[in-house]
Amino acid sequence: MAHLLITGGAGFIGSHTCLVLLEAGHSLVVLDNFANSSPESLIRVLELAELGFESERLRVIEGDIRSEADLNRAFGATPGSTGIEAVIHFAGLKAVGESVAHPLRYWDVNLAGSRSLLAAMEAHGCRNLVFSSSATLYGYPEVVPIAETAPIQPINPYGHSKAAVEQLLADLYGARLQSQTPWRIARLRYFNPVGAHPSGRIGEDPNGTPNNLFPFVSQVAIGRRKQLQVFGGDWPTADGSGVRDYIHVMDLAEGHRAALDVLLAEPPQLLTLNLGSGQGHSVLEVVSAFGAASGQPVPYEIVPRRAGDAAATVADASLAHGRLGWRTSRTLQDMCRDGWAWQSGNPKGYGK
Ligand SMILES: NC(=O)c1ccc[n+]([C@@H]2O[C@H](COP(=O)([O-])OP(=O)(O)OC[C@H]3O[C@@H](n4cnc5c(N)ncnc54)[C@H](O)[C@@H]3O)[C@@H](O)[C@H]2O)c1
Repeated sequence: MAHLLITGGAGFIGSHTCLVLLEAGHSLVVLDNFANSSPESLIRVLELAELGFESERLRVIEGDIRSEADLNRAFGATPGSTGIEAVIHFAGLKAVGESVAHPLRYWDVNLAGSRSLLAAMEAHGCRNLVFSSSATLYGYPEVVPIAETAPIQPINPYGHSKAAVEQLLADLYGARLQSQTPWRIARLRYFNPVGAHPSGRIGEDPNGTPNNLFPFVSQVAIGRRKQLQVFGGDWPTADGSGVRDYIHVMDLAEGHRAALDVLLAEPPQLLTLNLGSGQGHSVLEVVSAFGAASGQPVPYEIVPRRAGDAAATVADASLAHGRLGWRTSRTLQDMCRDGWAWQSGNPKGYGK
């Protein structure tokens, strides 16, 4: 059992990970400014974990990772004299298109925010970190499946900001390696997280028009949007639509628990791991699987390719399996069933 700080813990991946960590017996402090989430997600996490609202095992601090004062409040929020032993750092902005329009905002939250978090960790003597990185670092991959050794060549400001934080972490790790208290760091490169907790009580609640395929498809199925645009029907793939590696958010959450366990148990190290299923599914396969899971039609039209997309991105997920003893267990059908349970039970998300 450890005391953990979860930045961005109210968000999509953070909320599911908080549940998995509470169920594993950990105590959590969540720091979130709710820029893209609602405190309601954490109320539901408590309910799913069968903990009361006053539970000391989940403390929520509304604050910003760029604020030293807010970070100090979060590091001081553990019960008794126990300090935070490790941080899982989800907080950040993640919309690729928005990052192209607002690079300053992305560099500020993702890079400056991470820098101030790391400075606070050093000040509070906590040097164990799991960081949310992204497969977007690989840009247009030359070889698929993509291994962690593939070149880092991001193609948008969001990807650049994630690559910069990865580099900062490597620099910090190197600088402290010979010290009394070296860093233990896991840089986890997620592929395409989708789905929801099987209860349908927590899930992804994007602001405005969803940027990603799954929430878009589920909003079409529930009737919030008229039809899906499929960008490109002429990719060099089996059915001509783009292929991605989708990972059920519960598998991803369990991957974080596994990474944390390994980091805390093993000698200091800098782990860099792809978290994906290792399997590709095309847009049209997702449309068909979601239609079957929901029993609703998902009308779509094929439109020209979108700038910045790649034909296929699929993880080589073998390193994570070897290092963490973890691999995904949920199928595309599970992702659609659970995503639909969330969407149909909460047509307006958390209603924020
Ligand atoms: N969802 C994906 O497709 C995906 C893929 C790869 C990597 N990631 C990364 O994983 C992390 C979590 O993603 P998610 O899908 O859960 O996103 P999300 O937007 O649902 O969660 C991010 C959380 O961080 C909070 N936040 C944003 N700025 C903050 C700030 N300045 N201070 C404090 N809190 C702040 C938001 O309110 C939100 O609760 C992000 O870093 C994202 O870049 C996501």
